[in-house]
Amino acid sequence: MTSVAAPLLASRPSEFRLRDGTRVLVRPIRAEDRDRLQVGLHQLSAASRYQRFHAAVSELSPQQLRELSEIDHVNHLAWIALDPTLPEQPAVGVARCIRLPQEPRTAEVAVTVLDAYQGRGLGTLLLGLLSQTAAAQDIRTFRAYVLEDNEAMLRIFRDLGAHVGRLDVGEYQLDIPVPEDPGRLPDTPTGRVFKAVAARARREAAGV
Ligand SMILES: CC(C)(COP(=O)(O)OP(=O)(O)OC[C@H]1O[C@@H](n2cnc3c(N)ncnc32)[C@H](O)[C@@H]1OP(=O)(O)O)[C@@H](O)C(=O)NCCC(=O)NCCS
Repeated sequence: MTSVAAPLLASRPSEFRLRDGTRVLVRPIRAEDRDRLQVGLHQLSAASRYQRFHAAVSELSPQQLRELSEIDHVNHLAWIALDPTLPEQPAVGVARCIRLPQEPRTAEVAVTVLDAYQGRGLGTLLLGLLSQTAAAQDIRTFRAYVLEDNEAMLRIFRDLGAHVGRLDVGEYQLDIPVPEDPGRLPDTPTGRVFKAVAARARREAAGV
């Protein structure tokens, strides 16, 4: 792992402010987040659940919850955002990627943000954090399956230079380069968030 990504993986959560000033705590996901994932799924609108799973998922089994929260952060990486203003600090967003065994430098990626928190830059922030730790694990490409009407997700991935292929009716397969040096990303909204995340990681690595 590179020295830049290591502090981001530290157990202490980092606080970020979203575009509208909303505070969130972000950290790599842990086993204790199992219940947060189920509660979060229940709070997600049916439309968002469909965009995420491409199916009408309304409940995760105990085994699925374990698989999504007890992860190695090498082949399966995930970041969770919590709302620090509420007593239980519920999950408000997750970005995860899982390495493909047959293409070990590629990982399937998915991002989910609760409807009430969408459109404030949280999805971009979580993906920026995930990119840093994925790059440190030698993951070079994110692969995503995105429904064609998912403007927000397509916007973020296109900003990152995604190669977009039509997979099936209504669905795209995207291959997104994981930025090795976010500083060289173009000056888009996504590029700016990724640069800010990288700058924060550098500051924390330097102990500033
Ligand atoms: C897709 C998703 C993760 C994006 O998260 P988010 O926090 O809302 O995204 P951001 O606020 O970072 O916005 C990303 C960009 O999309 C744009 N955007 C947001 N909602 C949009 C919409 N409905 N239509 C068009 N563009 C939209 C934003 O304006 C932003 O661009 P900008 O930075 O230039 O303004 C979130 O909407 C979500 O969880 N959707 C349901 C699950 C899902 O679709 N997951 C993807 C599976 S791969």
